Amino acid sequence: SLFKGSSKMIALFVPDIKNPFFPELARAVEDVTNQYGYTFVLCNTDDNHEKEITYLNALTQKSVDGFIMVSSTICERHLEHVTSPIISLDRRFSSNISSVTVNNRKGAREATAYLQSIGCKKIAHICGPQTASNSKDRLKGYLDVVKYEAWFHSDFIVAGDYRFKSSYEVTKDLLTKHKDIDGLFVANDLMAVGVLKAAESLNMNIPEQLSVIGFDGIPLGLTTTPSLTTIQQPIYEIGSRAAQILLELIDHPEQQVIHEELEVTLIERDSTKRRE
Ligand code: RIB
Repeated sequence: SLFKGSSKMIALFVPDIKNPFFPELARAVEDVTNQYGYTFVLCNTDDNHEKEITYLNALTQKSVDGFIMVSSTICERHLEHVTSPIISLDRRFSSNISSVTVNNRKGAREATAYLQSIGCKKIAHICGPQTASNSKDRLKGYLDVVKYEAWFHSDFIVAGDYRFKSSYEVTKDLLTKHKDIDGLFVANDLMAVGVLKAAESLNMNIPEQLSVIGFDGIPLGLTTTPSLTTIQQPIYEIGSRAAQILLELIDHPEQQVIHEELEVTLIERDSTKRRE
């Protein structure tokens, strides 16, 4: 990086730092890059393609040494003019670009199978944005468990966007139409909090009438009533591994592409309950 001029700076792109999943990730990236003498700039992209491209071009001109990206809209062809190394984290966007993710499909399978194991008979899924690789994998994991069940119907798969507001609205709609749903696997915790609020507004008791499991393990899930059962991602570790790999790529650009997949853990809390 000395030859093309180095700013000793790396950039992290996240959809929205207000989602409590991302501060811990950002903290990890900053801790690791700081240790090696880099400063760090944070960009909120709102999952918006134009914003991502604008940031990429502007920061490439400023000779940023590397990019760590959580993105659902970038493909390889958008990166032709980017000369610095890139790593994707949390979501994968190309097999030719290194990534750090968790095993989303397996985690989703575990979440859905857990609902089944505690006696839920009709389990619905609220998805993340259709463009995000991890959201597609979580949907696949859900389908792995339910697709051959006699009760299964495509109405039980509901589009979401990883945000609180939409999940509140779609859940109210879903639970009003399908009063027999007794289990919900929600693609992230923030939407699962929206589900708790929607159930409250319909006077439905969680976990007595409906068991809810999220994905992420953000601290917010500990403070809700009821507290949230979830699939815990090793958030800090995802960020620190991505930063380490990026720094290796900056020093050795010829290094082979690496795809690291970290493990998730199911955490049982109060939003799920065994049915008698
Ligand atoms: O809550 C934010 C979501 O976006 C998480 O599930 C994470 O995996 C990211 O993709």
